[in-house]
Amino acid sequence: MDIMKLLGRSESLVAVDFGSTAIKLVELNMRSSRPTLTNFGLLPLDEDIYSGNVITHGDYASEQLLALLEANSVDDKRIVTAMPGPSVFTKKIKMDKMDLEELRTNIQFEAGSFIPHNIDAVQLDFHVLGEAPGNQLDILVVAVKNEIIDGVLDCIALAGLETAIVDVDYFALQNIFEFNYPEHLSETVALIDIGSRFSSICICRDGGTLFTGDMSIGGNTITEELETQLGLGFDEAEELKKQASAGEQVEERAQQVIHENVEHVASEFNRQLSFFWSASGAEEGIDRIFLTGGGSLMKGLREQIAEQTGIETLFLDPLKEIDCEEGFDEKYLKELSPVMSIGLGLSLREPGDRILPEGV
Ligand SMILES: Nc1ncnc2c1ncn2[C@@H]1O[C@H](COP(=O)(O)OP(=O)(O)OP(=O)(O)O)[C@@H](O)[C@H]1O
Ligand SMILES: [Mg+2]
Repeated sequence: MDIMKLLGRSESLVAVDFGSTAIKLVELNMRSSRPTLTNFGLLPLDEDIYSGNVITHGDYASEQLLALLEANSVDDKRIVTAMPGPSVFTKKIKMDKMDLEELRTNIQFEAGSFIPHNIDAVQLDFHVLGEAPGNQLDILVVAVKNEIIDGVLDCIALAGLETAIVDVDYFALQNIFEFNYPEHLSETVALIDIGSRFSSICICRDGGTLFTGDMSIGGNTITEELETQLGLGFDEAEELKKQASAGEQVEERAQQVIHENVEHVASEFNRQLSFFWSASGAEEGIDRIFLTGGGSLMKGLREQIAEQTGIETLFLDPLKEIDCEEGFDEKYLKELSPVMSIGLGLSLREPGDRILPEGV
């Protein structure tokens, strides 16, 4: 499928992010001088829609998606959505300069040698990162297993909707950062979306993707530890965690478990960031870290990450350069914006600027 043919700039798309705790929806009006937020909503999920990275509860997920669209009076039927980072295999390669069609054919031909899956079981796409010495191109190849894409597409089709674009959460994250922080574009930044079950990391500079990776650590890490250590049910533990995060008084033992785990989560980020970054062979350091995702809201986590990494760590404001239609409650927008960053990054999607798996 060719993205250029599908998406004109005036066409309206609805961004849908299937998180494991909630489905999130964003719609922007891209026709005004600055993108303007027209829709912004989420619907918490009572059931787990994922098994691993595959949406296996498609019936339930599509019902909830329809309910969310209805509640937000969304009539548009074309969806842009994202694959979760852990479901995506990425590899940077170099190839001789050639035109896009030739690149596509050659990458399809060669991918079998570096993709850890059967080539017939994946959808492949690529993004030209830039020119490399020796008349070559740096290319980022992306592969997603068919069953993972199909889970998402089936769920959207079941709701009577059409999938226009399938993106990858790393790139949605990079999109929303680049749009909002032009002043930091020339720096090497690590963007971290801390979800509930995993975190996506994208390291970028000058509009280029230097590294993408994920970690199976997120908001659930702390909730599950409270569950185990205090013998609570998941919902109780989640409630307790959010109370403590809001600064409410909780029993001392809970406080201690949370404190230890915030430190543990921060040290995991520090360890993995150093590992990822040295493995990628980068010479320069990371100038700044931007955090987003619901898990980043855990009280004290940002400060711990800054302390352990020794790198300035900020919250990413995904609405910094986006206008909002009248009628939105500012407090609601501020509270929800961290969990909406991927959706907002998707809703900014422009024809041809990022990757999508073929054959959608
Ligand atoms: N105020 C808060 N303090 C601490 N944690 C919070 C707060 N608000 C949300 N969270 C946590 O954020 C997580 C949900 O974030 P988010 O919506 O980004 O995840 P998700 O997209 O559903 O999950 P995933 O991306 O892993 O599939 C949960 O673990 C939740 O407990
Ligand atoms: Mg998420």
